[in-house]
Amino acid sequence: MIGIVGGTGDFGQGLAARLRILGEDFVIGSRTPRGDYLPNEEAARRSEVVFLCVPPEGVHELVSSLADALASRIVVSVAASLRLREGRSYAELTAQAAPEARVVAGFHTVSAKVLLNPEVPLDEDVLLCGDDDDAKQRVGAIAERIVSGRAVDCGGLRAARRLESLTGLLVGVNRRYKANTGIKVTGLE
Ligand SMILES: NC(=O)c1ccc[n+]([C@@H]2O[C@H](COP(=O)([O-])OP(=O)(O)OC[C@H]3O[C@@H](n4cnc5c(N)ncnc54)[C@H](OP(=O)(O)O)[C@@H]3O)[C@@H](O)[C@H]2O)c1
Repeated sequence: MIGIVGGTGDFGQGLAARLRILGEDFVIGSRTPRGDYLPNEEAARRSEVVFLCVPPEGVHELVSSLADALASRIVVSVAASLRLREGRSYAELTAQAAPEARVVAGFHTVSAKVLLNPEVPLDEDVLLCGDDDDAKQRVGAIAERIVSGRAVDCGGLRAARRLESLTGLLVGVNRRYKANTGIKVTGLE
């Protein structure tokens, strides 16, 4: 089971749209449970892989409150600030706040707008980093079902700050070119 915590926003809804097409089992979490939306904690407890899709400013408080529910789960941190930041990445903050979670950072370069439009193929790569190789591989396998490119291993969780800065870069490119861009790494076998 895949959980989408904060799954009522554009990124979470886009991810849900893609997972639905793939026939994956998933649950969506929200701070305001209603209808098919579960409390975030229940969504986390029911899942083996949890995508954390809340805005960056909400990450630390939410993850701290869900630390027990996230223990032993693979937690995918997609949070990215549009401004250049100093210090720890959101993925590292997540790992600190939920020390028993297996945190993988990734999907920062995948546009929610494109995710939300399942007719548009995602001809791009997903860049991932994390310290747990097995968790990274499992998230990579999910990523490679969603995009037609590959999951690219970008190293340990320390590299998350580099990945998180790419979203702002692409947002600027999108604005200039009136496009929805992604990233493809060339030169890999
Ligand atoms: N948008 C993109 O193209 C894109 C691309 C790459 C990565 N990302 C990352 O994906 C994440 C989600 O983006 P988004 O645009 O979907 O975000 P969003 O719509 O602003 O927020 C997603 C959901 O998070 C919950 N939420 C809002 N504030 C919260 C808080 N302070 N604490 C806990 N939960 C809160 C809300 O759900 P409830 O009210 O139902 O709880 C909201 O619907 C962000 O971290 C962003 O950096 C986005």
